[in-house]
Amino acid sequence: MKKQEQNKAQAYNQVKLHYERAAENRNKRLLTSKLNAAKVNHRERLKTIAPLLKRIGIVKQGIDVGTGTGVWSEVLVDYCDKVTGIDFAEQNIKIACEKAADTGFANRLVYIVGDAQQLSGLNDHSYDIATHVSVLQHLPDQRKSLESVNRILKKKGHLIVVVHNRGCIYNRSLNLQHKRGATIAINKYNTLDEIVGLLEETGFQVKKIRLVWLFILDFLMIGVESPRLIPFEPLRKALLVIFGKVGGWMGRFQLLNPLFREIVILAQKR
Ligand SMILES: C[S@@+](CC[C@H](N)C(=O)[O-])C[C@H]1O[C@@H](n2cnc3c(N)ncnc32)[C@H](O)[C@@H]1O
Repeated sequence: MKKQEQNKAQAYNQVKLHYERAAENRNKRLLTSKLNAAKVNHRERLKTIAPLLKRIGIVKQGIDVGTGTGVWSEVLVDYCDKVTGIDFAEQNIKIACEKAADTGFANRLVYIVGDAQQLSGLNDHSYDIATHVSVLQHLPDQRKSLESVNRILKKKGHLIVVVHNRGCIYNRSLNLQHKRGATIAINKYNTLDEIVGLLEETGFQVKKIRLVWLFILDFLMIGVESPRLIPFEPLRKALLVIFGKVGGWMGRFQLLNPLFREIVILAQKR
C-alpha cells in the first residue's frame, strides 16, 4: 500500500515537472503556429464542445480543471459571469493570468494553483459548470478528481469532460510509446465504458456522448480548407460540407469508435 502511494506521488511530481517546463512552449505554439497539432486539436474539440455550452446557456460560476494556460477558461468565460481556472503548474497559471490581464478579463477570470484531484480550498456546491479537458489521463487518482468536481458543483450542475479514447487505433500506438519511454509519467487513456462507469459511480448522470475524430482526418480537413490545395472553389466547398457532416454524424452516433481520438461527455450532477 505504502509503495503504491509512493508511486502515485512520484508520478504526480513527474507530470508537474513536465508541465512546468513545457508551459511557455505550449502557449507559444497555441498562439502563433498555424498548422500545429494542439491548435487543430483545440479547434476540433471546440466544434464539439461549443454546442454543448450553448445548450446549457449562460450561468454564474464556471471552473476549468487542469486549465493549463487557460485555453478553456477563455472559452468558458463567454458562458459564465465568472470563471476559475485551476492547474498545479505554476508556470501555466502565471501565463494564464498574464493573458487575462492583457485581454481585460482579469476581473472575470481567476486562476489558482492547485491539485485537480483534491480541489482543496474550493467550496462545496459553488459552481454551475465545470470543464475537465485532457487532464484525467495524467491523474494518479481519476476517481478522486471526479468526486471532487462533483463536490464543488451545485445540484444539477454540468460537467464537460474530455478524455483520450483508449479504443482509438492511434491512441493505442501512443500508449505503447508511453509505456516504453514514458515522456510523461502517466498517460492513462480511458475507454468509453470506463469513463461512463466512472462518471456514474462518482455521482453524475451522463447526458450526451460525442466523439472527436482521428488526427489524420483533422489534417485531411485542413487540406480541404486550403484553396491552395483545392483551387476549384465549388468542389472545395462541397467537400467541406461533406466532411463536416460525416464527422459530426459519426461522432454523434458513436460509430467507428476506433477512429475517434477523444471522447467528450456532457454529464450532470445527480
Ligand atoms: C494536456 S494539458 C490540457 C490543458 C488544457 N485543459 C487544454 O485542454 O488545453 C493537461 C493539463 O493538466 C494539468 N494537470 C495534470 N495533472 C494535474 C493535477 N494533478 N492537478 C492540476 N493540474 C494537473 C497540467 O498541468 C496541464 O496543464
